[in-house]
Amino acid sequence: MAKEPAEINPAGIVLSRQSDVPLYLQLYASFRKMIIEGRLRPGDRLPAGRNLAKELGVARVIVSQAYEHLVLEGYVLGKTGAGTFVADQLPDHLLNAGKRNTASIKKPVAQTAAPVEPPVDMQAGSRIGATAFQMGMPSLDQFPYKLWHQVGNEVLKSLKQAHLGYEDTLGYWDLRKAIAAYLRISRAVVCEADQVIVTTGSQQGLNLVVSCLLEQGDQVWIEDPGYHGARIAFSTAGVALCPVPVEQDGLNVSYGVAHFPDAKLVYVTPSHQFPMGCTLSASKREELLAWAQKHNSWILEDDYDSEFRYEGRPLPSLQGMDAGGRVIYSGTFSKVLFPGLRLAYIVLPSISLVSRFKKIKDNQDRQSPVMDQLMLCAFMEGGYFVRHIRKMRLLYAERQQQLINLLQLYCKDYLRISVAPSGMHLLCWLPEHIDMVKFKAAIHQHQLMLTFVNSFTLQHRQPPAILLGFTAFTKYKLKAGVEKLLACLKGSVPA
Ligand SMILES: Cc1ncc(COP(=O)(O)O)c(C=O)c1O
Repeated sequence: MAKEPAEINPAGIVLSRQSDVPLYLQLYASFRKMIIEGRLRPGDRLPAGRNLAKELGVARVIVSQAYEHLVLEGYVLGKTGAGTFVADQLPDHLLNAGKRNTASIKKPVAQTAAPVEPPVDMQAGSRIGATAFQMGMPSLDQFPYKLWHQVGNEVLKSLKQAHLGYEDTLGYWDLRKAIAAYLRISRAVVCEADQVIVTTGSQQGLNLVVSCLLEQGDQVWIEDPGYHGARIAFSTAGVALCPVPVEQDGLNVSYGVAHFPDAKLVYVTPSHQFPMGCTLSASKREELLAWAQKHNSWILEDDYDSEFRYEGRPLPSLQGMDAGGRVIYSGTFSKVLFPGLRLAYIVLPSISLVSRFKKIKDNQDRQSPVMDQLMLCAFMEGGYFVRHIRKMRLLYAERQQQLINLLQLYCKDYLRISVAPSGMHLLCWLPEHIDMVKFKAAIHQHQLMLTFVNSFTLQHRQPPAILLGFTAFTKYKLKAGVEKLLACLKGSVPA
C-alpha cells in the first residue's frame, strides 16, 4: 500500500489579532502563499486542524474555515479520515502568478491525459480533481463523505454470513426494492422490485440488452449525435447502427420510421438528450411508443441525469407512458452519487425477460459487489440519497448560472449559449468561421477539457459547437476556465 505522506507542519504562520482581516482569512492566505510559492507541494498533508489550532492558539473553527476556503478554491482536498492534502491539480493561473519555478511540481494526472477530441473517455480526469470543463462529473468535493462513512460502518457492524456468499445475480433484494420505490416516486417509472436488475455501471446494462435482445446484423436506431458508450456497445456486438438525427424537440422519430422501419431497438435519452440537452416532446414520445408496439421493437430509455432539472418538476419517464411493455429503462448512480461506485440498474418490462437477463449476467460477473450494494441500500433507506440529490440540484443550478454569467461576460462575442434548464453541461455554438486547427491547439496548450459536439456524430454533422461541463467546478475554477477559453477563442476567430 502507498505510504501516506507525513503531515507537513509549516513554519512561519503569523496571525495578527490587531488586523482587520479575520483570522481564518489570514490563515487561508498563509497556506495559499505557501502553495503558490511551492513550499507546499501537491500531495503534501496539511497539519491536523486540532494540532494547528493548538499551536497557533486559535479556536479549531478558525482552522476549519481556512481549510474550507482552500478546498473551495481547489488548492487542497479533504480526504475523510486521512486529512487535508495539497491538490495535485492547482488553479494554475495562480501558480504562474507565484513566479516560482514550477518545474518541480508534480504533473497533474488529468492534464497529462488531456483528451480534446474525440471524447474517448470523458471520465479520464477523475483521479484527483476534474479539469474544466470535464463533462458528466459530479461535484465530488460536496459528497457527504461523513454520512457515507457512518452508513458504511453500520453496514459492516451488522454484516452477516449471508452477505458474504453469492448474492442474487439480479442484485441485493432490499436495494432492488429501494430503487423501485425511488423510481416510482421520482421518475414515474411503473415497476416492482422484481423487474429491477442491479448492474455494474450502466455500460453493463447496455451490454446485457445487446446480448439478450439483439443478434448480429439487427438494426438499432441511435441518436445522432448521441452517447458514444451506447454506440460502442452496439457496434462491438455487430449490430447495424442506424443514425437518426436529433431536432430541437429530440429524436426525429418520423425520420427513423421512414428510413429504418425494421429496427429491432431504439436507443434514446428522452429526458435530456445526450449531448444536445433537448427533451423528447410528448407527441414524439407517443409516436415512438406506438411504432415500437406495432413493430415489436424495443426502446432502451437511458435516463442517465434526469434528476438534474432546475426548473419545474423532473419530467416523467418514457417508461411510465408505455402501455405495451416495450421500454427498458436504464439509470445510473454515477451522476447522482459518484462514478467510482460503478452501480446502475435496468428495469425490464416483464419477469420472463428478467430470467433471460439473469442467465447472461450469471455468465458475465455473477453479481455486482455486495458490500457496495449494502451500503448504497442503507444510504437510500436512510433518506440520505434523496437529500443529496436535492442538495446537488440546487448547487448545480447555481453553477450552471455562474457559467452562463461568466460566458456572457467574457465570451459573448464568440459563443452562442444554448440554455437548457437541466443537465450537467452547457452546449455552446462556435462562430462558423472559427479556425478549428488553431482552436484545438490552443485548448491543448491551455489544458482545457473541451468536448466537441461533432465527436458524437456519425452522419448528421452539426455546426461547430462545444460542450462545457459545470457541475464539478467552483465559481473560481469556472472563471479560470472561461478566461482560458476566451484566450483560445480570441486566437482562433479572425476579426
Ligand atoms: C448518456 C449516458 N449514459 C450513461 C452514462 C454512464 O453511466 P455509467 O457510469 O453508469 O456507465 C453516461 C456517462 O457519461 C452518459 O452520458
